[in-house]
Amino acid sequence: EAEETNMKENGKLNISGNTRTVLERRYLRKALDGTLQETPEGLFRRVATHIAEAEGFYEDGLDPSAVADAFYGVMTDFRFLPNSPTLMNAGNELGQLAACFVLPVDDSLDGIFDAVKNAALIHKSGGGTGFSFSRLRAKDCRVGSTGGVASGPVSFMKIFNTATEQVKQGGTRRGANMAILRVDHPDVLEFIQCKSDNEALNNFNISVGVTDAFMQAVREGGDYDLIDPRNGETRGSLNAREVYETLIHQAWFNGDPGIIFLDRINRDNPTPALGEIESTNPCGEQPLLPMEACNLGSINLSKCVVTDGGKARIDFDSLKEIVWLAVRFLDDTIEMSRYPLDEIDQMVKGNRKIGLGVMGFADLLYMMGVPYNSDEAVGLAEKVMGFVQTEAHEASRHLAVSRGPFPNIGKSVFKGDENRAYRNATCTTIAPTGTLSILAGCSSGIEPVFALSYVRRVMDGDELLEVNPLFETMAKERGFYSKALMARIAETGTIAHMEEIPEDVRRVFVTAHDVSPEWHVRMQAAFQNHTDNAVSKTVNLPREATADDVQSIYDMAFDLCCKGVTIYRDGSKQNQVLSVAEKK
Ligand code: CDP
Repeated sequence: EAEETNMKENGKLNISGNTRTVLERRYLRKALDGTLQETPEGLFRRVATHIAEAEGFYEDGLDPSAVADAFYGVMTDFRFLPNSPTLMNAGNELGQLAACFVLPVDDSLDGIFDAVKNAALIHKSGGGTGFSFSRLRAKDCRVGSTGGVASGPVSFMKIFNTATEQVKQGGTRRGANMAILRVDHPDVLEFIQCKSDNEALNNFNISVGVTDAFMQAVREGGDYDLIDPRNGETRGSLNAREVYETLIHQAWFNGDPGIIFLDRINRDNPTPALGEIESTNPCGEQPLLPMEACNLGSINLSKCVVTDGGKARIDFDSLKEIVWLAVRFLDDTIEMSRYPLDEIDQMVKGNRKIGLGVMGFADLLYMMGVPYNSDEAVGLAEKVMGFVQTEAHEASRHLAVSRGPFPNIGKSVFKGDENRAYRNATCTTIAPTGTLSILAGCSSGIEPVFALSYVRRVMDGDELLEVNPLFETMAKERGFYSKALMARIAETGTIAHMEEIPEDVRRVFVTAHDVSPEWHVRMQAAFQNHTDNAVSKTVNLPREATADDVQSIYDMAFDLCCKGVTIYRDGSKQNQVLSVAEKK
C-alpha cells in the first residue's frame, strides 16, 4: 500500500496514506462544519494559479497559465513544495504566505506589547516568529516613569508564551517562537535556566546569542563584560567558561537552550547598512532583520536520483530545472503574499529574501548506497548543495535582468558587483520540513532517517507498523523481509546490531542514533558552506552522553563555521517528541 503512494494516474493524483491524512487535517479548505471543500488537485491548482498571477505584474513576465501548469506539475510530482503557509493560504482570504518572521522587541511597555500583538497576527496566519529580547533592560533595573523595578526579559517572555497559547495558528497549528538573548545581557544566567521546568515557555525555542569575543574568552578562561542594553555601559562581568558550562549543562539536561553564533551570522548579513541581525525564526534556519519575513521552499532530493544500468546517480539536469522554477516560484510568492504589517511589507519587498532548500537527503543517500556517516556523504552534501546554491544564484540574477535587483541592493554587500546583481538578497535556507516531508513522503530536511521501522499509535488506540519504504523495498529485493523482523526493528528503530541482516545493508541504512554526533555536525557544516541563510539540524546524542560530549559538539560547530547548533540527548525531555515508538 505504501508503495508509489503519490504517483499520478491518468492525470489524477493518487494520494493515500500519510500524505492524504496530512492534507485533510492541515491543508485542504474546510467548511465550518469540517467538511472538505477542496481536493488535493484543487489545492495544488489553487496555489499554482495564485502564485503564477505575479507573472502578469512584469512587462516581460511569462504566460501566467503556462507558469501555473509548471508550478502545478512540480508540486504534484512532490519534487518541490513551498512552506506550509503558502499551501494553506495562497488564494485564500488570509493570503499570508511566509513561514518566518523576526519582530523587534523594544525596551518599553509599548514596544513589548506591540510585539505581542504583531506576533499574534502572524501566528494566526501560520507564520512563526523570532525575537531578540536583548534590548530589554535587565531585571531589577529602575523604571523611570513609575519608580518601580523592571521584571526583565524572561518575565516578559511568559506573556508572549501565553498569548501564543491562545492563538492557534490559522486554526490548524500553534504558533512557534524563538527567543534569543545575547550572552552579554545581564540576565543571561536566568535565561539559560528559563526552560528547565519543561512546561514553562513551552511555545518557545530558546537560544543564547554568543559572540566571537565570548568564545575566545571561553578558550582563554577569562572573564567577559555584561552590558546594560540601555546605554552600553558595563554592568559587571562573568567568567566565560562558567557561563559556557552552565549553558552546556542545561542543553545536556533537556535540549534547551541552543546556541547561535551572532558574529558568524552577521558576517553573512547581505544588508549590514540596514541593521544587525539579532534573531532567527523559530527553528533557527532563517536569520532575519527585525520586521523581516522570508518564504521557504524545499526540493525533494529523493526525486532527483535516477538509475542507469543498475547504478544510481543524481540527475543534475532535472535538479537544475527544479531550482530555476523554484526560485521563480518563491520570488513570485513575495509579490502575492499579504503581510500582516506595512513595515514588514516594506522590509520584505526591499530585500526580497527567499529560502530554497532541500529535503529527502537521507533518502538520496540510501538510494545511492552511501552511509550518512561517511566522507563520501559529506562530499555529496557539498556537491548537491553547492549546485543548488550556484543555480539558485544564477536564477535570481536572471530574474533581476527583467524584474530588477532587490531594491536595497545599493545598500547591500552586492553594490556595484555585476556578477551578483541578484533579485533576492538571499536565496537558500535548509528548513526542517517537518510537515512538508510527510506530504512528500521523504526524509525530513537533511536529517538522517529517524527509524527504519516504528509503531505509530493512531487515534482509536490501534497500533500500525510503519516501515521506511526504501528499506522495505530493498529488504524484499534482498530476500530478508518479514513482518516479524520489521516488528523487531521497531523496538529500537535501528538495524546496526542485527547480525542476520547483511553487513553492507547495515552500513548504508543507518539511522539518526547510529550516526555519531561528530558526523551530524560535519553534515550540518557541509550544507552551511553552501547556504546563504542557515541550516536546520538537530545533533542527536545517546542518552548516556555527557556534558563534555555536548561541549565538544558546540566547539566543533563553532570551529566548522556553523551558524548555530541544537542538540538533543535521547530521553531528556519529559514529553519527548521523537521517541522511536511514537514518532509522528
Ligand atoms: O514543513 P513545514 O513547511 O510545515 O515547516 P518546517 O519546515 O518544519 O518549519 C519551517 C518554519 O515554519 C519554522 O522554522 C517556523 O518558522 C515555521 N513553523 C511554525 O511557525 N509553526 C510550526 N508549528 C511549524 C513551523
